[in-house]
Amino acid sequence: MTERRLPAPVICVDGPSGSGKGSLATALAERLGWRYLDSGALYRVIGVVALDRGVATDDESALVGLAKSLDIELTGGRIRADGLDLTERVRDEAVGAAASEAARHPQVRQAILAEQRRAAESPDGGSSGLVADGRDMGTVVFPGAELKIFLDASAEERAQRRYKQLRNKGITVNLRSVLANIRDRDARDEGRAVSPLQPASDAVIIDSTHMTIADVLRQALALVRERGLA
Ligand code: C5P
Repeated sequence: MTERRLPAPVICVDGPSGSGKGSLATALAERLGWRYLDSGALYRVIGVVALDRGVATDDESALVGLAKSLDIELTGGRIRADGLDLTERVRDEAVGAAASEAARHPQVRQAILAEQRRAAESPDGGSSGLVADGRDMGTVVFPGAELKIFLDASAEERAQRRYKQLRNKGITVNLRSVLANIRDRDARDEGRAVSPLQPASDAVIIDSTHMTIADVLRQALALVRERGLA
């Protein structure tokens, strides 16, 4: 693994689905006035477009073709590919599964690596940093990051959170199938040969099982201050 000098300070927030890393990373970016990279959105866009175009998620070279040709835009809280707004669609359970299948392929990961690293470059040459959210931000994409947080929670707690979210959106689901989906996704994300989901050796692990989002944010901000990042 090569440590590169980063163009701006980077905080990585990695962890499994439903650990609350999206909420933590967006809250941190907002509090610090830094940019935010939702790397999972890139895999989700590849997943949704593959589903739409009938590309099989085990066809690595076709997925690489998609990853390289799509013009993906993550701005203003919206997710667009080739100008098409996919913000709501990418959150489907089926898309999450397709994203995680596509993410197993080394060349697919390689195809979006440079784009993820570019997110650390300030578009206006300013000095504000980046909060990057994903699975391999601290291990592969930004190994030289100033702060790496690995946010975890038990599978049962993550399933409960997801279940409540879906019910609040009026979607009828059963808790057992939500938990089974989470376990499937964990197994795929942890078991893949490249960039498996695991904490970087220098990551601070926070277990959010019995914590509120506010508690997690407080602990993360204490780390940010300790590292002299704010
Ligand atoms: O974080 P999110 O649930 O949106 O990610 C969707 C899928 O994309 C994950 O299940 C994972 O397989 C993949 N992913 C990844 N590496 C990242 C971010 C997401 O493999 N850095």
